[in-house]
Amino acid sequence: MLCAVAVTHPVDRLIERYGADTVTEAMRPLLTDERIARIETVLDARLDGVTVALENLHDPHNGAAAIRSLEAVGLTTLHVVEQVEKFSFSPAVTVGCEKWIDIRRHKHVTACAGVLKDAGYQLYAACPDGDCGLDEVAVNRPVCVVFGNEHQGLTERARGLCDRRLAVSMHGFTQSFNLSVSVAVTIHRLAERRRAILGRPGDIDRQKRALLRARWYAHGVRGAEAIIARHVSEQTRQVCTN
Ligand SMILES: C[S@@+](CC[C@H](N)C(=O)[O-])C[C@H]1O[C@@H](n2cnc3c(N)ncnc32)[C@H](O)[C@@H]1O
Repeated sequence: MLCAVAVTHPVDRLIERYGADTVTEAMRPLLTDERIARIETVLDARLDGVTVALENLHDPHNGAAAIRSLEAVGLTTLHVVEQVEKFSFSPAVTVGCEKWIDIRRHKHVTACAGVLKDAGYQLYAACPDGDCGLDEVAVNRPVCVVFGNEHQGLTERARGLCDRRLAVSMHGFTQSFNLSVSVAVTIHRLAERRRAILGRPGDIDRQKRALLRARWYAHGVRGAEAIIARHVSEQTRQVCTN
């Protein structure tokens, strides 16, 4: 089975309606102290300032492996450009970890680059013949690394939109890494370097933290909507009686 759709988080509708803090408060009694502590630890280490864009990815196993690495490293978002074919990933490889990240879909690499540049990201084109190494990437500012298709590599258009060309060093006869391997090696190094420069494990702001906390508290809770509605009406009643 393959998942062709990017993940949209069902609970976001509730967060939009009630607000992140209300969703969090309503869900808190359902979670153990250990679960709450684990969520805070993962939130502490979430990074917005390193992200990845995949241009025209073909193999769903590579898509899944990239998602899994991205989540494990602690990044928040994966961008996918679907100009040639829809992004898909095999759930057998992600084993559900896609629910912890955002997958943003773009129809064209130009649109993707525009969104990222407007948000202040520097763009690095990952290509085996790049002239910038992993330790030269300026991780004191937000950075997105753009990876190409398994067969054709990055398009000229994508290369042209990027600020620099990044190569992961290789010392064998092989001319390129497997796509998902190059993603994992790259983000692991950049994330560690960004954490070292920041002097803390994560960089998400309060608003993003509140959103993710609400999502993660409510994730998988059956009847979440009814629980939140009950919580809100109890709060309203208390305010009225006070
Ligand atoms: C299997 S490679 C594609 C090889 C393709 N023939 C080319 O020349 O780019 C898939 C993608 O992985 C990334 N990649 C693989 N090896 C890399 C390396 N050593 N440095 C940077 N990126 C690499 C690139 O983004 C590439 O487009």
